[in-house]
Amino acid sequence: MKILNFGSLNIDMTYFVGEMASAGKTVASFEFKRSFGGKGLNQSVALARSGANVFHAGKVGSDGLDLRDFLASVGADVSFVDVSDVPTGNAVIQVDKSGENCIVVYGGANRDVSKEYAEKVLSHFGAGDCIVLQNEISNVRYIAAQARERGMTVFFNPSPLDGLDVPLSDVNWLILNETEAEAIFGTFDAEKIRAAVTRDTPGLKVVMTLGSKGSVYIGPEGIVKVEAERVRAVDTTGAGDTYTGYFIGELSLGSGVEKAMKTASRAAGISVTRKGAAMSVPKREEL
Ligand code: RIB
Repeated sequence: MKILNFGSLNIDMTYFVGEMASAGKTVASFEFKRSFGGKGLNQSVALARSGANVFHAGKVGSDGLDLRDFLASVGADVSFVDVSDVPTGNAVIQVDKSGENCIVVYGGANRDVSKEYAEKVLSHFGAGDCIVLQNEISNVRYIAAQARERGMTVFFNPSPLDGLDVPLSDVNWLILNETEAEAIFGTFDAEKIRAAVTRDTPGLKVVMTLGSKGSVYIGPEGIVKVEAERVRAVDTTGAGDTYTGYFIGELSLGSGVEKAMKTASRAAGISVTRKGAAMSVPKREEL
């Protein structure tokens, strides 16, 4: 099975601060890091490190070729990654003492994903393959619909929620956090989400991450809950991406939902004990 991750690649500029800057306020940062990120790239790193057969598609500018090289170095196929005239996307990230973050994302080349480019990439995939999408590139709605038409299994992580327009009827697996669940379903109560899914989009499988409270699977067969790892967080950036990539990767290797959730929780638990997004995704042997 081939997994196509059509997603963002960002240069992350992370500022570690005592307290987050807010409107009208300037704060000093005691540590700065430039590193690799973007929800798409982070998830491809996790997919590759889980052992899955992952192809990444997306765009960088000529200033972001090191992102493509890094993805290749972790074992993802980058032959579909294209170089745009637009500069690479970037994110300005504040991380406070508790490891929480606050992110501003500039789309850049990620917003230069055209329907024509998407069609070219999708022509290499078909029934039996999977596609992984987040909400950081242009034409996500179109890509999801085309992938669905080709018989691919669509995994969708609706992050960030800003400007979301992918219909759930084009999605097989929805992987999201509590805030996103509340915005989409009006609740993060698993039973209520199950009732809404059964009524409106039967067959849709939902995996909801709850941070330190673990994660929940809500599917036609029932609800499965898995505890989070007990760790001391230094930087939670990319933890959701690590979970998503490892979860899908583990499923693609033949594991059941509960085992995939446990593996994903373990990987995400390790990632929050380290600084950075993509750089914090653990290798399979570290689990
Ligand atoms: O999910 C974390 C990611 O969000 C960061 O790597 C940043 O690039 C933003 O896209």
